[in-house]
Amino acid sequence: MLLIGVLVSGRGSNLNAILRAIDRGAIRRARVAVVISNDPTANALSVARRHGVEALALDSKGIPREEYDAKLAEVLRSHGVGPESGLVLLAGFMRILSKKFVEAYQGRMMNIHPSLLPAFPGLRAQQQAISHGVKVAGCTVHFVAPEVDAGPIIVQKSVPVKEDDDEESLSARILRQEHKVYPLAVKLFAEGRLRVEGRKVTIVG
Ligand code: GRF
Repeated sequence: MLLIGVLVSGRGSNLNAILRAIDRGAIRRARVAVVISNDPTANALSVARRHGVEALALDSKGIPREEYDAKLAEVLRSHGVGPESGLVLLAGFMRILSKKFVEAYQGRMMNIHPSLLPAFPGLRAQQQAISHGVKVAGCTVHFVAPEVDAGPIIVQKSVPVKEDDDEESLSARILRQEHKVYPLAVKLFAEGRLRVEGRKVTIVG
């Protein structure tokens, strides 16, 4: 059984999509052992509790990065989500993780980003896409590397950008795809079907 820890900061719709996929048996041999939010007011905490999953607020305000991340690692480990056998999912986690934490979980930590990486890393990716005038946008699930939004790409899904799109309408179209690709990436990981060589992720079978 793969034990998963999900780090969140906000709404929690990707968390919800993953929990639903597990609940309906689309992702097998995996369980979310703990959800941790660095923002105690995050809606994602209620999403987790609605699914009967343990949800903890670990406020990051004013805490030095290394110290906070050491605490995160300790809580994850105490829930069975260690770097040897667990999986950490960043789902709208709005905090940069220390190099030490990222290196410890390398190959066992994923993130979802609302652009077709390497285009538009960082904040407000959907607005960046609109401002740049691209015709195609999308989302990316990738393994986390020390550089922000830069690790090996697992799955991507594209969506069209329409002429009258604004940040909100494009974000909504991308989000619908996020809710499909993140559970898919977790399923592939849980089935042991992801092989990483350098930047390249191969899906086996
Ligand atoms: C999503 O757009 C995700 O791609 C980005 O942050 C947002 C989180 O949304 N990293 P939610 O909290 O999962 O609803």
